[in-house]
Amino acid sequence: MINKVDIFDTTLRDGEQVPGCKLNTEEKIIIAKQLEELGVDIIEAGFPVSSPGDFRSVVEISKAIKNPIVCALSRAVEQDIKVAAESLSYAKRGRIHTGIATSEMHRVHKLRLTEEQLLEKAVFCVKYAKTFVEDVEFYAEDAGRTDNVFLAKVIQAVVNAGATVLNIPDTTGYCLPQQYGEKIKFLKENVKGIEKCTLSTHCHDDLGLSTANSVSGVFNGARQVECTINGIGERAGNTALEEVVMILKQHSHLGYDTNINTKLLSKTSKMVADIMKMPVQANKAIIGDNAFAHSSGIHQDGVIKHRENYEIMNPLDVGVDQSTITLTARSGRAAVAYKAKLLGYNVTKDELNVIYATFIKIADKQKTVTDEDLLSILKG
Ligand code: KIV
Ligand code: ZN
Repeated sequence: MINKVDIFDTTLRDGEQVPGCKLNTEEKIIIAKQLEELGVDIIEAGFPVSSPGDFRSVVEISKAIKNPIVCALSRAVEQDIKVAAESLSYAKRGRIHTGIATSEMHRVHKLRLTEEQLLEKAVFCVKYAKTFVEDVEFYAEDAGRTDNVFLAKVIQAVVNAGATVLNIPDTTGYCLPQQYGEKIKFLKENVKGIEKCTLSTHCHDDLGLSTANSVSGVFNGARQVECTINGIGERAGNTALEEVVMILKQHSHLGYDTNINTKLLSKTSKMVADIMKMPVQANKAIIGDNAFAHSSGIHQDGVIKHRENYEIMNPLDVGVDQSTITLTARSGRAAVAYKAKLLGYNVTKDELNVIYATFIKIADKQKTVTDEDLLSILKG
């Protein structure tokens, strides 16, 4: 049996919270349309009460998007929810995402509420949002650091109030994968009626564990993953969409699937990086420039003989044309001969020895040896 995992993209909300990445409405629409083509199930379009510009963005995205659910964020505040609902009035399928922090840390030191007051606000925001839309997602901010028994009490209350999706954010990126998975499992086992709702992961990357935590959440019963393109987001970022999607695809024997057209991952990543002016590190999993590049002799020899010796994914599956062999001082004869052939030169063993001797002298002086460099060596 295949378990469908919904992909909730929050590039335009949590991702856009990165300093310097703010987008205008036109830019947001371009990205939203690309996310629709990519196949995401839900687009979190913004936080409408935060500014008139963001309100307009959610309105225009709601008009422009046909298939995915369009979601608007709000706090557990009447005015936020009302404005979120207004911003979604053109959405074919609209969702209000509302909630409140549940950890003792946030409850005492940020909200200054008792547990009872917090529960009351949680129930209020869901019930009020339900007066506008059927689809209401509740977030328990800092759930990662919330005691599981209290968290279950809050989640039980919002399930009873009519929440359709239950977001369990590891807001501060604190959890370990097993701990986060157990949290999801605990809720599944201790909240009555939870089977009618979708459990959602929303993990931040402060310890570099956001993807591992999200996947652990899925393995323990979550059926929605909140993520961003290139993993952008507050501080160290959010779970990277491309990582979760490819993990589930490459381990398809586990029986999970998403609706994502993975061949559009590279294009989408580049578009978001360009528009947000947030370059992707070269060694980033799946979509970094070096994700399918091989530079050491042993690896190059292996890849040339059989690509799968060193690649667990086909680059075509993520929209990258081909693997690359980069010539450096660590490259061996096999890579030099391979590149020479691509440039139209079939060299003999003896010729290769001569070429390689020149190549390695140049390579030791440079970071990489380009095709032009190799051509001039080949021409003697
Ligand atoms: O990280 C977080 O807790 C959030 C919520 C507002 C969903 O982004
Ligand atoms: Zn977040």
